[in-house]
Amino acid sequence: MELGSIIQFLENKTILVTGATGFLAKIYVEKVLRVQPNVKKLYLLLRAKDAKSASQRLHNEVIAKDLFRVLRELLGANLSSLISEKITPVAGDITCENLGVKDSNLVEEMWKEVDVVVNLAATTNFDERYDVALHLNTLGAKNVLNFAKKCVNIKLLVHTSTAYVSGEREGLILESPYYMGETLNGASGLDIDTEMKVVEERLSELQAEEATDGEITMAMKDFGIQRARKYGWPNTYVFTKAMAEMLMGHLKQNLPLVIIRPTIVTSTFKEPFPGWVEGIRTIDSLAVGYGKGKLTCFLGDPEAIIDLIPADMVVNAMLVAMVAHADQIASESNIIYQVGSSISNPVNFTCLQNYGLLYFTKHPWIGKDGKPVKVGKVTVLDSMPRFHRYMTIHYLLPLKGLKMVNIAFCQHFRAMYYELHRKINFVMRLIDLYRPYLFFKGIYDDMNTEKLRMAAKENGIETDVFYFDPKVINWEDYFMNAHLPGIVKYVFK
Ligand SMILES: NC(=O)c1ccc[n+]([C@@H]2O[C@H](COP(=O)([O-])OP(=O)(O)OC[C@H]3O[C@@H](n4cnc5c(N)ncnc54)[C@H](OP(=O)(O)O)[C@@H]3O)[C@@H](O)[C@H]2O)c1
Repeated sequence: MELGSIIQFLENKTILVTGATGFLAKIYVEKVLRVQPNVKKLYLLLRAKDAKSASQRLHNEVIAKDLFRVLRELLGANLSSLISEKITPVAGDITCENLGVKDSNLVEEMWKEVDVVVNLAATTNFDERYDVALHLNTLGAKNVLNFAKKCVNIKLLVHTSTAYVSGEREGLILESPYYMGETLNGASGLDIDTEMKVVEERLSELQAEEATDGEITMAMKDFGIQRARKYGWPNTYVFTKAMAEMLMGHLKQNLPLVIIRPTIVTSTFKEPFPGWVEGIRTIDSLAVGYGKGKLTCFLGDPEAIIDLIPADMVVNAMLVAMVAHADQIASESNIIYQVGSSISNPVNFTCLQNYGLLYFTKHPWIGKDGKPVKVGKVTVLDSMPRFHRYMTIHYLLPLKGLKMVNIAFCQHFRAMYYELHRKINFVMRLIDLYRPYLFFKGIYDDMNTEKLRMAAKENGIETDVFYFDPKVINWEDYFMNAHLPGIVKYVFK
């Protein structure tokens, strides 16, 4: 694999980044500006009604973040001029043709100038409405691909997928592409046009039934899960991301395309500083619940490997892959990089639990009453039957009791009963959605990513700047000194 300097490649290049207010996109933009301020231009696509509000979102939700602190210290007052010179915020929406960019001059300019497109826009909600996820994750990716094809200087489209497109598979999960119509359970008939049709039909039915907005949302969420499971995927998110991969592979023609499949992305490992994170993400909701003393029991296999990868490593892998594949017309199959840690530096749930206990014992969260929150060992329910027994004893039987008391006391406890009922339903839905991951037995192969690392090493390419080898992570040190302090600083409220 030929590989030149990434820093040199970035010089004088124009990159279009979608999903620019997102977690990974911000880290990408910060890194590019920091390592190569002579990049020609970054077009950052943000959802906004016009250029002015796009610019406001850029400043408030991207540049103002603590993530840019190092760059701010480095450049001082020059940061503003670098931003205004190098970044063009673009109001748009990837669910629309031409990415919803209304300014036709700007569209023409981008088609003329853009060298690389990086697609990071998506909904990452596992329980998203099917119509929303299909239009955004699947058809939105197709719109980005079509836009990239119109760019006359395009060298590469980097699309971000997820390792979990593999569904609930066990054992070694390869970096294999998906072909049109392929399913995880062997069911036939998966067709993206049909999916769009059934979505429209379901929406029309709901409108005909005069369903409320809330009922439509709930029905479309359920519909996504139903369609995903029909073809073997556990939820709407991964199903729509898998269909995006199929569609892109099918339609890419001569466009060089790289698909990055990260596993669970966590806070930064090293750059611009350790522990930067934003929003409550999958695994972090457990850390927040635990640190605040609200998580006393957990469902899952204590030995299950949780595949984590720090966000800066994902971004570095994207940048190195970009240089490795720019201008290379891919063969029939897509070039896929799984970026995770389960094969080379696995960490299991029990270890994570121990780090949580150690950290929050040493640095307890101060509760609203001003007192430190005490944490202890959580009860681990290691099978679904144990979970059902636990739920019955602790919640379902008390709920039944409350129902009887409520009847006996002429509906006096009605509000309390419905609140408990709602909470139990919520937990059961979450468990249903996350169950495949709680007992996950898959390991993500990263042979392609390893080859990329080797190529960078052999060619002496800035491996200290664009590091993405998870073997260097000491998980205990990372959790104690970067990730958990980051979660507390940026996510706890
Ligand atoms: N984070 C992870 O753990 C993880 C793991 C594996 C794969 N990935 C993949 O990595 C990518 C980035 O993830 P992330 O965690 O950075 O996501 P994120 O923080 O949720 O950001 C998603 C971005 O997409 C934008 N977006 C939503 N709808 C849009 C639309 N119609 N048009 C244009 N932009 C739109 C959002 O903009 P608004 O601010 O306007 O909502 C936001 O900027 C995604 O493709 C995701 O599937 C993430």
